[in-house]
Amino acid sequence: MSEAYKVECIRCGARFSKEDIVYTCRKCDGLLDIKYDYSEIDVERVVEAKGEGVWKYRVLLPFDENTKPVTINEGNTPLYRCDRLAKSIGITNLWVKHEGLNPSGSFKDRGMTVGVTKAVELGVKGVACASTGNTSASLAIFAAKAGIPCYVILPKGKVALGKVAQAMMHGAKILSLRGNFDDALRIVRVLCEEEKLYLLNSVNPYRLEGQKTIAFEVVEKLEWEVPDRVILPVGNAGNISAIFKGFSELKTLGITDSIPKMTGIQAEGAKPVVNAFKEGKEEIIPEDKPETIASAIRIGNPVNAAKALFAIRDSGGIAESVTDGEITEAQLELARLEGIGVEPASAASIAGLKKLVEIGEIERDEGIVCITTGHLLKDPERVIEICETPKEVDADVDAVRKMMI
Ligand code: F0G
Repeated sequence: MSEAYKVECIRCGARFSKEDIVYTCRKCDGLLDIKYDYSEIDVERVVEAKGEGVWKYRVLLPFDENTKPVTINEGNTPLYRCDRLAKSIGITNLWVKHEGLNPSGSFKDRGMTVGVTKAVELGVKGVACASTGNTSASLAIFAAKAGIPCYVILPKGKVALGKVAQAMMHGAKILSLRGNFDDALRIVRVLCEEEKLYLLNSVNPYRLEGQKTIAFEVVEKLEWEVPDRVILPVGNAGNISAIFKGFSELKTLGITDSIPKMTGIQAEGAKPVVNAFKEGKEEIIPEDKPETIASAIRIGNPVNAAKALFAIRDSGGIAESVTDGEITEAQLELARLEGIGVEPASAASIAGLKKLVEIGEIERDEGIVCITTGHLLKDPERVIEICETPKEVDADVDAVRKMMI
């Protein structure tokens, strides 16, 4: 529907056409955003939208009515009420939106359905990304569905097994880079410009349009009420920016009247956004050697930092870091108190919530939604490291009884 959108630089306001393949501003290198004429958008079509998942909200997506989406039924993930976990943390109102239940097992599918649909519209010869794992898994799947060649660059030895398996199975051409994620992103950005491949990291503003639908689904499931706070892990800082945009759009359209406090959690060993937030700075200082067991967010130079810092500050939120130990504890607690299995990066949201409640930054009666971004099975190696190994036993009733009970 939204044919009348613009691609605009968030820093200098320069505009680019929708046929232009551009990722950051050609004038000032600022990040780009998709802008709509909200006065033209029929609010009824948002509130009364039929269907499921990302494309249900196509009135707020940058395509016309006739576009045929590349879709595998992404989105429409459950919002679980988590009373047992809430009680153990000492709070009263907690929900978890489990993005690990997207088709590829992470929220990236929301961005990729939009990004790859755009790639098809542009008629590109191939799509590419750098990834800590989930982006590559998701892109491989959507590229397969669209029949477009897919190239991914992964930091060698730093990607969880389930994610590499997905990219391999769905036919991506995978390179294992002797370097970290930030090196991979730097290189793929150059190659996309020079080799005319379409870049589908979250610096691509179309990706974030898909991911903003997380906000729409949260509000709709809460019967058009806005939670007080949304907490999520921050890596390359795209998702927090996208979700903030989703909430902002609902407010601009007059559907809601507030925006949740956007609360971003990073790992202690990879926290450039947290540092910039705490020091009151506009720009991050990149970290050369990011390190954490939460491999999805092992990122030292997040490309969307400027958008994320704005989202956190403008919404009255906060950025905080958690240790690997706190992440592991939260991962186990979420799994064992609520039956929600997530990969370590996702558990950072719960670990951050616990820490912020303990230090008094979060009120105990706030309505809180944590976003768990990726599924447990993405990172089985970590499970083996932190859980008890199954014991071997002879095939005999008494032997089993003895060890079982
Ligand atoms: N959680 C998971 C499970 C992720 O895979 C990522 C990012 C994030 C959180 C952070 O989201 O980058 O939008 O701040 N993974 C990217 C990837 C970097 O390559 O899969 P972000």
